[in-house]
Amino acid sequence: MPDRGFAAGTGATNVGLHRFAVLLAAATLLLVFAGGLVTSTESGLSVPDWPTTYGYNMFTFPLSKWVGGIRFEHSHRLIASMVGLLTIVLAVWLQRREGRRWVRRLGWAALAIVIAQGLLGGLTVLLFLPPAVSVAHACLAQTFFCVVVTLAVVTSPRFRDRAPRSFSATFGANPLARLAAWATGLVYLQLLVGAIMRHTKAGLAIPDFPLALGRVVPPLDAFPVAIHFVHRVNAVAIAAVVGVLVARAIRSRRPGLARLSLVLGALVLVQIGLGAATVLSRKDVLVTTAHVACGALVLGTALSFGIGAMAAERRRGNVIPMRPSLSGRAAAWK
Ligand code: HEM
Ligand code: HEM
Repeated sequence: MPDRGFAAGTGATNVGLHRFAVLLAAATLLLVFAGGLVTSTESGLSVPDWPTTYGYNMFTFPLSKWVGGIRFEHSHRLIASMVGLLTIVLAVWLQRREGRRWVRRLGWAALAIVIAQGLLGGLTVLLFLPPAVSVAHACLAQTFFCVVVTLAVVTSPRFRDRAPRSFSATFGANPLARLAAWATGLVYLQLLVGAIMRHTKAGLAIPDFPLALGRVVPPLDAFPVAIHFVHRVNAVAIAAVVGVLVARAIRSRRPGLARLSLVLGALVLVQIGLGAATVLSRKDVLVTTAHVACGALVLGTALSFGIGAMAAERRRGNVIPMRPSLSGRAAAWK
């Protein structure tokens, strides 16, 4: 289908589409929390079969049998099915109403990722949770979240009005967007390292905090200690990049971006606090799972900031102008 410009639907339809994408992002965050609970409670194998649940169709599995770890594993599968269904609706809705071809394609990409993620989830069970598959499942979950957050941001009426025509042109001239890309990249690396640590049982390889085995730099010859220490060092790098980002965003005099940068900064502080509490509480289930979910929030916020920074740049006139056919209101941003 050809690119139909920015918006093919009516304003009301577009607002509905945006709200639906936000709902999907919220449901995905809940799903990440539910998945984190499965790992934290070590319930991954409490339902040994897949796609059935103890031989039942998963949707007719009796409530009376939801006991012990089954509660976590089975409810995770049900929430995943709901998120899958919402993703199908969003992809079809975008296909019918969205004017930008790349956004329609991103909708189908989200659907492909959620299907792959469901299959990976099944595989973790059928293969008895090999760390490589569990790590891939954890990382693809956050990748899916990133795609859904992007869809939520770029379908918002604000973004439609300010979107740059060319992301590459905007990115080159935009230090805030570049900082956000660094932050997002480092946070993604952090969750990869976090997932490896979690699924190789290295979460308590360094049991003290803020020191590490009583030292600033612990002996790094054992893999569990090394991977755990990398996670801590990268947390410092993330805090530093986000600190610079907040300072620059405040100086940029763009109130929306400055506010979002403060939210990001606050979330990073909470996340570091939750990381420390994970260690000091000896991996309390709720604290550890909150750390996983807040990690997704940090990632999604850094990404949204980057997309917002690129869109805001349009207002400063540094990017390729919109098509003249677009509304007078949009043209007024130039
Ligand atoms: C489709 C969307 C899905 C998403 C976004 C998702 C997300 C997640 C997340 C974030 C975790 C926690 C990873 C961690 O804490 O390191 C997890 C764990 C898990 N998920 Fe999913 N999941 C999905 C579907 C499924 C499905 C369909 C199954 C089917 C069996 C499944 C089975 C599991 C299992 C067994 C674990 C625990 C793995 C372990 O402890 O090693 N997931 N999931
Ligand atoms: C901005 C900083 C941080 C981010 C974004 C972050 C993110 C994450 C994520 C997403 C996971 C889980 C990965 C998964 O399996 O899905 C994780 C695991 C973990 N993180 Fe962090 N983290 C940060 C800082 C810290 C700090 C400062 C500590 C303190 C020592 C810490 C300790 C841990 C531990 C112990 C685990 C593994 C939990 C387990 O074994 O179950 N994190 N982190």
